[in-house]
Amino acid sequence: MLFDLTGKVSIVTGASKGIGKAIAVGLAEAGSHVVLCSRTKVELDEVAKEIEQKGVEALVIPCDVSNPKDIQNVVDEAVKKFHQIDVLINNAGITAKRPAEEYDLNDWNKVIGVNLTGVFLFAQAVGRQMIKQKKGTIINVSSVGGETALTGSIAYCASKGGVNMLTKVLAVEWAPHGIRVNGIAPAYIETPLVKAIKDQRTEFAQKVEARTPLNRLGMPDELIGSAIFLASDASSYITGETLKADGGWTALGL
Ligand code: NAI
Repeated sequence: MLFDLTGKVSIVTGASKGIGKAIAVGLAEAGSHVVLCSRTKVELDEVAKEIEQKGVEALVIPCDVSNPKDIQNVVDEAVKKFHQIDVLINNAGITAKRPAEEYDLNDWNKVIGVNLTGVFLFAQAVGRQMIKQKKGTIINVSSVGGETALTGSIAYCASKGGVNMLTKVLAVEWAPHGIRVNGIAPAYIETPLVKAIKDQRTEFAQKVEARTPLNRLGMPDELIGSAIFLASDASSYITGETLKADGGWTALGL
């Protein structure tokens, strides 16, 4: 079955809430065991319960993706329990908003550290395992900010542009090892973070909706289909691609 993930093992970073949680539960529904990581164990335990109700196994491993030792620990524990890693969803991400001329170096380093260096380090650690297995798929969660300018988000946009390029380079370097590397680039999705902006800053939310051809924010569950597609054999001839799941955001000219 093209979209079936039965018996696969997927790691999802930033799985405690928002897009990561939705994708983790979605992969479990498609049959995959899921390794859940983000910094807070309590939140991950809740997601694990939901996943186990789908009849698959969940493994919770707290991890800060800006810490290489934490990342290696996730990979080691995942391999110890499941003996393989089939899918990596590199989802954890943060932002800090400020005009470019006032942008703080600490904020710059934090955003780049999690969104770009974290994605690279996780892909590298999992990639080494996938090279041994001679198969695997990696999916990096990017953003429309990777190719369109979002005001006040210079580090975020630079990190996501970097992720898009990283996806292409890894896809090309690891294709001979049977590893596919792709991305998903959403526009504004109603996660807890964005919902707060939406509720508090109605004008901003209205602007975003008006700027989006589908005329609304996306919901986290609407990214599950893209993730299952890229994780499964349904996309077996696709690598180096960043799939836009953006309600038409990047298609809009005028
Ligand atoms: P969120 O803030 O709701 O969730 C982020 C997740 O990442 C949480 O589980 C958090 O604990 C985890 N995380 C943050 N820093 C971490 C670290 N250092 N180590 C480990 N885990 C960490 O965010 P959301 O909205 O679900 O975003 C997920 C991804 O989707 C991010 O990469 C974001 O850039 C991307 N994205 C989100 C959009 C949106 O509108 N919500 C739009 C486009 C892309």
